Amino acid sequence: MKIDFVAADAPVGAAAAVAVVAFEDGQFSSAAEALDLQLGGVLRRAVAGSRFKGTLGQTLDLIAVQGLDAARLVLVGAGKKDAWGERNAELSAAHAFNAVKTSGCDSLVIRLGDVAAEAAAAAAFGVTLAAYRFDRYRTTEKPEKKPSVAKVLVAVEGPKPASKAFKPLSGLADSIILARDLVSEPANVLYPEEFARRVKKLTDLGLEVEILGEKEMKKLGMGSLLGVGQGSVRESQLAIIQWKGAKDASAQPVAFVGKGVCFDTGGISLKPADGMEEMITDMGGAAAVTGVMRALASRKAKVNAVGILGLVENMPDGNAQRPGDVVTSMSGQTIEVINTDAEGRLVLADAVWYCQQRFKPKFLIDLATLTGAIIVGLGKDYGGLYANDDTLADNLLAASKATDETLWRMPLPPAYEKQIDSNVADVKNTGGRPGGSITAALFIQRFVKDTVWAHLDIAGPVWKSSSTSPIAPNGATGFGVRLLDKLVADFYEG
Ligand code: BES
Ligand code: MN
Ligand code: ZN
Repeated sequence: MKIDFVAADAPVGAAAAVAVVAFEDGQFSSAAEALDLQLGGVLRRAVAGSRFKGTLGQTLDLIAVQGLDAARLVLVGAGKKDAWGERNAELSAAHAFNAVKTSGCDSLVIRLGDVAAEAAAAAAFGVTLAAYRFDRYRTTEKPEKKPSVAKVLVAVEGPKPASKAFKPLSGLADSIILARDLVSEPANVLYPEEFARRVKKLTDLGLEVEILGEKEMKKLGMGSLLGVGQGSVRESQLAIIQWKGAKDASAQPVAFVGKGVCFDTGGISLKPADGMEEMITDMGGAAAVTGVMRALASRKAKVNAVGILGLVENMPDGNAQRPGDVVTSMSGQTIEVINTDAEGRLVLADAVWYCQQRFKPKFLIDLATLTGAIIVGLGKDYGGLYANDDTLADNLLAASKATDETLWRMPLPPAYEKQIDSNVADVKNTGGRPGGSITAALFIQRFVKDTVWAHLDIAGPVWKSSSTSPIAPNGATGFGVRLLDKLVADFYEG
């Protein structure tokens, strides 16, 4: 999406749509007021003849308005006037875009008038996220089905400062979009080595990237991760991404570890056919980690950060691991593989251990599309948050509140440990149906050693088929990128 800032009264094209903001208490924004005056009160009359109340996201669409230099006029609700700020600017702009994106108009001009630069930037951010579409593989879509709006102009009194305020947000939006693209890519295109290649490209932004292959991981003793990829013709990879932005180059880094199962068939414990295609999203944790590392680099965050991706494909095959196999993890702990479909925790066991051994991070947060059980418990909108440290958990919840990437804290009850005790090995990889997401988290915790740690089970929010958010179209959401960027910005920089 092409997006730009122009002067408040900039002329618009004849095929454009113009949007202005109104508030819940019947008050127009100054831009809406001015336009209404110029058009002889048509906006007020339109509101009077409709159910438009100005609630956040409500839109009123006027076509062929006499005296208007554009094809269409959209009045968009921004909620209570005293609640106006960056958040509602972002959401109302996204709603305005969604209302006209397939209208036939070629552009959208959002007239904001005399708002703060940050609010104008937030509006542009909202539109950028709302306009996301993964259409790389559509070759025959009819033009009239495609979005028509190809350009958005935010018209404000100070376009220069607005444009400056948008810089860091634009970097964040591109990082969220990178995560969405990675999640959307099918598994025949995005397998571990291809994922690693895409990560390598991020060195352009100043990130350092190392890739380990199976030989190196074998030397490190990563029998748990390697067991998962054993049935795949695609080579497993471990990607290590570093951002060194702290003044003190030797400052302890913050660390993110992502589950990157490029496709999860379940392995020998094969999943049912119905819906299995959704398992192209099983690298959503790794995508979020990639996105947040990109975001930190793009705004030159004053922090040292490490991102680790465990990249594998879980396939059934003559060489695949079997239920009953016992593998030895890098930590030395042995694992009885009860169900080859509980593979994410096997990948994380080694990736999390490696991260602690090598980097001794200030904290470690792992992200994973780990269990169906968390969707049963929390639905599609919440990530499950597990943590061994209340400060980290509270900081995550605060960042969650600020970004609307919702988390719900879950318990780590010691009493449930016995569900994952094995009779033949140190631990087993499933704990039965009760508390399935909790026992998965407890499993990962067995590979956490004196490290401040949190685990986000993001199986729900990674992908939406009936999204309720104006800034997240159906499909990949990029969940986690904005949340963790905010976490670092608010609590761990400087
Ligand atoms: N990748 C799945 C979890 C998942 C399910 C993600 C639905 C997104 C949507 C994970 O690897 C898995 O298969 N988990 C099993 C664990 C079970 C075998 C203990 C599950 O949740 O059923
Ligand atoms: Mn699985
Ligand atoms: Zn999985």
